[in-house]
Amino acid sequence: MPRPLIIDTDPGVDDAVALVLALRSPEVDVRAVVASFGNVGPDATLANAGRLLALTGRTDVPLGAGAARPLVHRREQRAGHVHGDDGLGGRASSLPDPVAPVPGSGVALMARVLEEAAEPVTIASIGPLTDTAILLAARPDLTGRIARVVVMGGAIGGGNVTTSAEFNVHADPEAAHRVLTQDDVPVALVPLETTLGCAAGPEWLAALHDADPVCTELAAMIAPYRDFYRGRYGRDAVALHDATALLEAVAPGSLTATPTPLTVECGFGPARGATVTGPGGGAGARPVDVLSAPDVPAVLDAVLRRLTSA
Ligand code: RIB
Ligand code: CA
Repeated sequence: MPRPLIIDTDPGVDDAVALVLALRSPEVDVRAVVASFGNVGPDATLANAGRLLALTGRTDVPLGAGAARPLVHRREQRAGHVHGDDGLGGRASSLPDPVAPVPGSGVALMARVLEEAAEPVTIASIGPLTDTAILLAARPDLTGRIARVVVMGGAIGGGNVTTSAEFNVHADPEAAHRVLTQDDVPVALVPLETTLGCAAGPEWLAALHDADPVCTELAAMIAPYRDFYRGRYGRDAVALHDATALLEAVAPGSLTATPTPLTVECGFGPARGATVTGPGGGAGARPVDVLSAPDVPAVLDAVLRRLTSA
C-alpha cells in the first residue's frame, strides 16, 4: 500500500525534478503539494507547482498556497540567478496552465491530510521550512500523525548562500530551528554536502532528456541551471538537491543516517542560518538523522530509474 506523502516545496528546478520523482514512485501517494516563497516569490512557486501537476497529469493532487514570507524576520532572499527568474529555467510559460490551489492556507491543507490519513504521513520539506514549522507549532495534536519529516537543507560544512549557511535554512533560520528541534517527530536532514556529492553528469542528463516528454521538459529546465553549476563549481554536473531528498522520502534507507544533535544559528551575525552540530549544538539540540550517500552511483541510478519509469 503506497505511503502518504506531503511535499512542501519552492519550485525551483530541482524541486520540479523531485516532484516528478515522487509522482512516479509507486511506494508513495502524494496527498498534497504546498508551495512557499523561496527560489522565487510565492506567487511564482505556486504557479510553478500547479504547472508541474498539470504537466504530469496529476491535477488530482491538492495544491496549497504556502508561506509568503519567513516566520519571524521578513527577508527577500531569492535564487533567480540559479533557477531562472520564473523559477523553472525559463520554461514556466511553456508548461500547461497551472492547477488552481485549494481555498485556504497550505498549512491548513497539510493539517487536513494528517487528520484524514489512515496512517502516519511523511512530509518532504524541500524549500524554506516555514510551513512545516507553522504546522508543528499550530497543531501539536497532529505530530503523532507524522511518520517522518525529510528535509533538504543545512550544511554541515560550507554553505551555498553564505560560507556557513545553505539556502533553505538561511531563508528562514527560525523555522528551520523549530523543525529540527521538534522532539516527538523523526526528522531526517539531507544536507548540502550530500546533495552536492550526488551531482548528475552529462550521461545522466542525456538519459533523462531521452526518456519521455515530461523528462525532456525537465532536461530543458535544467539547461540554464547546468550552466550555473558549471560556472560555480567548474564541472559539468548538476546537484539535484531536492530529488536526492525525495529519493529518501519515497525509499527510506536509500541514504545512510547518522544521528547528530543539531540546532540552527538564528543570530544576525555572519553565521546566521548555519546548522550547528554536536553536543554544543546550543539550546534544544536533539539528534536528527543527518543523511549521507556512501554509494553515489546507486543514488543517481535510483533517481533516474524512478524519473524515467512512466
Ligand atoms: O540549497 C538548495 C536548496 O535551496 C534546494 O531546495 C533548492 O531548490 C533551493 O530551494
Ligand atoms: Ca527547493
